[in-house]
Amino acid sequence: MSINRCGIRDVYQFVGQPVRIGCWLYNKRSSGKIQFLQLRDGTGFIQAVAVRNEVGEEVWDAASKLTQESSLYVTGLVREDARSQSGYELTVQNVEIIQIAQDYPVTHKEHGVDFLMDHRHLWIRTPRQRAILAIRAEIVRAVQQFFDSHGFTLVDPPILTPSSCEGTTNLFHTKYFDEDAYLTQSGQLYMEAAAMALGRVYSFGPTFRAEKSKTRRHLIEFWMIEPEMAFVEHEESLRIQEQFVSHVVQSVLSNCEKELKVLDRDTAKLAHVKPPFPRITYDEAIQFLQDNGFDIAWGEDFGAPHETAIAEGYDKPVFITHYPTELKAFYMKPAPERPEVVLCADLIAPEGYGEIIGGSQRIDDPELMGQRFEAHQLSMEAYQWYLDLRKYGTVPHSGFGLGLERTVAWICGLEHVRETIPFPRLLYRLYP
Ligand code: 4AD
Ligand code: MG
Repeated sequence: MSINRCGIRDVYQFVGQPVRIGCWLYNKRSSGKIQFLQLRDGTGFIQAVAVRNEVGEEVWDAASKLTQESSLYVTGLVREDARSQSGYELTVQNVEIIQIAQDYPVTHKEHGVDFLMDHRHLWIRTPRQRAILAIRAEIVRAVQQFFDSHGFTLVDPPILTPSSCEGTTNLFHTKYFDEDAYLTQSGQLYMEAAAMALGRVYSFGPTFRAEKSKTRRHLIEFWMIEPEMAFVEHEESLRIQEQFVSHVVQSVLSNCEKELKVLDRDTAKLAHVKPPFPRITYDEAIQFLQDNGFDIAWGEDFGAPHETAIAEGYDKPVFITHYPTELKAFYMKPAPERPEVVLCADLIAPEGYGEIIGGSQRIDDPELMGQRFEAHQLSMEAYQWYLDLRKYGTVPHSGFGLGLERTVAWICGLEHVRETIPFPRLLYRLYP
């Protein structure tokens, strides 16, 4: 009789039958007569019980040799077990050792952050890290599902670029044969060109900021989702953003129940995340901060403590709109009646997770764009292609960028973005 090969996730389909699973030993307990093997295979965790006088000497010895992270094929009978975390258990019939692992470094005791970061390639095997990466994948899936089903086309902007998008202070420089090149900070400018070709587009890819910030919100390399929409103005863009973020959160709640439980996430807080989201203007935010004892004047940018204080008043993400023109990027469209502020919004996540989206309506008037180029001392030559977009059939358009890792940190309820990405690139950390 052939034995079912299956993943731990799928054992429920084989209750009462034997299965063979390729797996690793996560942990082990043993009395003289019974060994409890905690096994993991990437799809989940399960306990396998080996009873000495049922399995025979050879299988018992093989099970006894297993150390943490030893690799094996286990064959066992699937039983429903209400007491176990997964709801199922295996009664061991056979153990085939692939390799006995010696001195696995990431043991079950507490380790410091530096040690764990040095062993990130192994750290990701733990239940908590597995849960985070599974939720990250679900977020990516939900992002693509939202845009693919709302008339957007996926477009991939370049990673090597000749010029900057979000200012020049944090560009990664490299050589492109004899020319200077930079790793992209944002695909936005290219996405504007794509929106004029395809209407509604989105990109999803890595972006780079050589920022000397060592905070719980900053990565040097992070992934961004950047939609760009022709014939869409500021107000409509905000409505799309709140639908989009709500869809992502609700998808994780529906499809990652187990993972959220592993992370001990308070899901009641996420259940609120449905449109509409509250909105306040930058002016109102400044007034609120001043009323609450912050020493901040109109025209200054918000830091993490400001954003956290503002977000505390809401159980959903909050849009802060109409920032001073001086504070924001060259491409943002000034408010028609009040050019000292721009038609933009930052979306601030609840629970202190800070800005997850930055977006705006873009300047569509060629003359005004020319003036902004002069004011920001940008080279007309380097950006000629971008200026062409305002010359040949310019239209009102808007777009935004969602930072994937900050979104993962918020939805998972994590202390720091370093756990949101398989191999984080942080200030002074390029290994592993
Ligand atoms: O606000 P930012 O800089 O906006 C842009 O780059 C626009 N060009 C986007 C657009 O309109 N197409 O970045 C957008 C988002 C932030 O809200 C934040 O979530 C994330 O990207 N982000 C970072 N995430 C992790 N580490 C960093 N260093 C980040 N910098 C920005
Ligand atoms: Mg921003």
